[in-house]
Amino acid sequence: MTTNIMTTSNNEHAYKRIRIFDTTLRDGEQSPGASLEPSQKIILARQLAKLGVDIIEPGFAISSPGEFAAIQQVSRELHNVEIVGFARAVKADIDAAVRATQDAARRRLHLFISSSDIHLDFQLRKSREQVLQIAREMVAYGKQFVDEIEFSPMDASRAGREFVIEMVEGVIAEGATIINLPDTLGYAMPEEYGEMFRVVRQQARGGDKVSYSAHCHNDLGLAVANSLAAIRAGATQIEVTVNGVGERAGNCSLEELVMAIETRKEAIGAVTGIVTSEIYETSRMVSRAMNFPIAYNKPVVGRNAFQHESGIHQDGLLKNRNTYEIMDPEAMGIPRSMIVLGKHSGRHAIKHRLSEYGIMMDSSQLEDVYNRFIEKADVLKLVPDSVLIGLASETTETQHDPYTLLDLQVMAGSADSIRTATITIRERDSQEVKSYRGTGAGPLEAVIHGLQEAIPVDAEFEDLELHSLSTGEDARGEAIVSIVHHNERYRGTSIHKDIILAAAQAFVASCNQLLMRAK
Ligand code: KIV
Ligand code: ZN
Repeated sequence: MTTNIMTTSNNEHAYKRIRIFDTTLRDGEQSPGASLEPSQKIILARQLAKLGVDIIEPGFAISSPGEFAAIQQVSRELHNVEIVGFARAVKADIDAAVRATQDAARRRLHLFISSSDIHLDFQLRKSREQVLQIAREMVAYGKQFVDEIEFSPMDASRAGREFVIEMVEGVIAEGATIINLPDTLGYAMPEEYGEMFRVVRQQARGGDKVSYSAHCHNDLGLAVANSLAAIRAGATQIEVTVNGVGERAGNCSLEELVMAIETRKEAIGAVTGIVTSEIYETSRMVSRAMNFPIAYNKPVVGRNAFQHESGIHQDGLLKNRNTYEIMDPEAMGIPRSMIVLGKHSGRHAIKHRLSEYGIMMDSSQLEDVYNRFIEKADVLKLVPDSVLIGLASETTETQHDPYTLLDLQVMAGSADSIRTATITIRERDSQEVKSYRGTGAGPLEAVIHGLQEAIPVDAEFEDLELHSLSTGEDARGEAIVSIVHHNERYRGTSIHKDIILAAAQAFVASCNQLLMRAK
């Protein structure tokens, strides 16, 4: 049986150790359009283990042979995490989950059946007595194969409290060791959700012998708050997904919950075993694998989460980061240099950004750059570094960028042929102008290949993000390119009406950034 683990910190506080149950690969995959190939599940499961989650629910074994094989592989490979076999309270599901997790070093069965009257009446078309009997029988059936049994009365937060208690008592009597009380529809308020845990723990016979888990959906944006309320009421396990992916508005977000606990551990009285420096990488891997973009303002991992535009905030940050930041982005593996330059930025931030590229200016040069920067910011909203460096080059009459993109030609079209891009680049030191060709299955690939030929940097092309910044005929696109050199990430951005040109400029900007910073 899972027990509550208490740890003690240096400052003599006793913290409760919260176990992180990751269901990105099961409930998270239920996000519309986010389904994963079995091979992607295996790669993500390895990353989740590196992130330090305690428990992984890799899928639903009965649903397909590919799903079964992925669960089997994860069970065979990952020995430091507990693997969950997920099943409806149905023998065939349980058999599949038991077989798929057979080789796990540590495993559990997770069985569920609905508990709310609305589900019983309209979906299961069964009485409470019938559902209770099924739940008990299936827990007893699963217990023959696996010791650790988690049971979830689905829709518990909308079910009759007395029935949830009866069900919990019944399954504990049959051997359930972990009781998960799901807020399946994201309907509960934090006080109500916490209260449900208190009441069930106190009133269900045997309720003090098992451990408790929270599983919250985010329909009202309360999944993290509800999970924290459950911790306060005695839960020692929280079910989460990376980036909060999942049915409808998603599940409790792993990174938000973990960072709330990490940042406010004294207030919450808990800790997790998560390796926070792996959060950003995991978030990006999940976002890419699921083709699921992260909202700009998503806490912790959203692009704007550590970006500051207002001059007052930027000024404070440059003096002491704690003035406007409660978490250190680097502790989550998020690259620094997150001050974005726009019309609210002050001279101090511009001077600081230029100095990061080794460009020093006297006060009249800075004034000149600042005045033209503000004009640009009115049009562009966010001013990429490449534009700022261009302004500095004009003011100092020196080309600062190691490489300048002078021309780009590429064709797009419906013909099923290879695309070819022609790129003309000027190199600062030699002032040589040269043209290069790149080919690819599409125009973007051709452009990136051509640029990799033209700019000899020892870096790995990591990612290209394209966003539309406006709609209609003069829609502008924003491109962000990340390249990685010796584990350092460099990001170049650009905005243009021609999205392919924006991507090329962003790529050149990321290489220039690497070269200038290295210098
Ligand atoms: O949301 C839910 O109720 C679930 C259970 C099946 C655990 O995902
Ligand atoms: Zn769920």
